[in-house]
Amino acid sequence: MLVRRAVREDLGRIQELWWELTASHLVFDPPFYAKRPKKECLKTARRWHTSALKKPGHFILVAEDRHQIVGYLLGAVCKRPPIYLEAKHGMIYSLVVAERWRNRGVAKNLLKTAFSEFRKLKIKLVVLNVDPKNRPGRKLYAGQGFRDRHVLVVKNL
Ligand SMILES: CC(C)(COP(=O)(O)OP(=O)(O)OC[C@H]1O[C@@H](n2cnc3c(N)ncnc32)[C@H](O)[C@@H]1OP(=O)(O)O)[C@@H](O)C(=O)NCCC(=O)NCCS
Repeated sequence: MLVRRAVREDLGRIQELWWELTASHLVFDPPFYAKRPKKECLKTARRWHTSALKKPGHFILVAEDRHQIVGYLLGAVCKRPPIYLEAKHGMIYSLVVAERWRNRGVAKNLLKTAFSEFRKLKIKLVVLNVDPKNRPGRKLYAGQGFRDRHVLVVKNL
C-alpha cells in the first residue's frame, strides 16, 4: 500500500469516500447529522477539497492499493488563540477508509504520514473530532496516542 499526496484527478474518488464518511455518521445522532441533499453536499465538499489541494498548510493524503484509492485524510494547520504557547495545531478534518479495506492498517498508515507532514510544518499538537459512538474511530485514535480533551454537548430545542 502506498500513501501519497492527492492531486486534482483524485478528487472524484475522494468525494465518494467523503460521502461514505458523512453518511456513516447519521445513525449516531440523526437530528445533529441530518444533511442537505447529497448532490448539494457533494458540490460543497468539492469546493472544500479543491481548496485543500492549494492552500498552504493544507494537505490531502490518499492511500492506494494496486492503483485504487482506498482511503484519504485531510489535514490542515490552524491558528490557536494567542494565549497559548503553542500558536498552531494540526487538525485532521477527515479520515475514511473504504469499507472493504478496513482493519488492514490503512488508517494507521494515513495517520503516520499525516504526523510526519505536520512535523515538517513544525506542528507539535494534532487534534480532531470523533463521535463518541464511533467505536472504530475511538479505538483507532486511542491506539495512536490521542487523548480526550473536549466533549461537545448538544441539546435539541
Ligand atoms: C475509523 C476508520 C478510519 C479505521 O480505518 P481502518 O483502516 O479500518 O483502521 P486500521 O486498520 O488502521 O486500524 C486501526 C486500529 O483501529 C482498530 N479498528 C479498526 N476498525 C475497528 C472496528 N470496526 N472495531 C474495533 N476496532 C477497530 C483496529 O483494530 C486497529 O487497532 P490496533 O492498532 O489495536 O490493531 C474506518 O473504520 C472508517 O473509515 N470509518 C468510517 C469513517 C470514520 O468513522 N472515520 C473517522 C471519523 S473521525
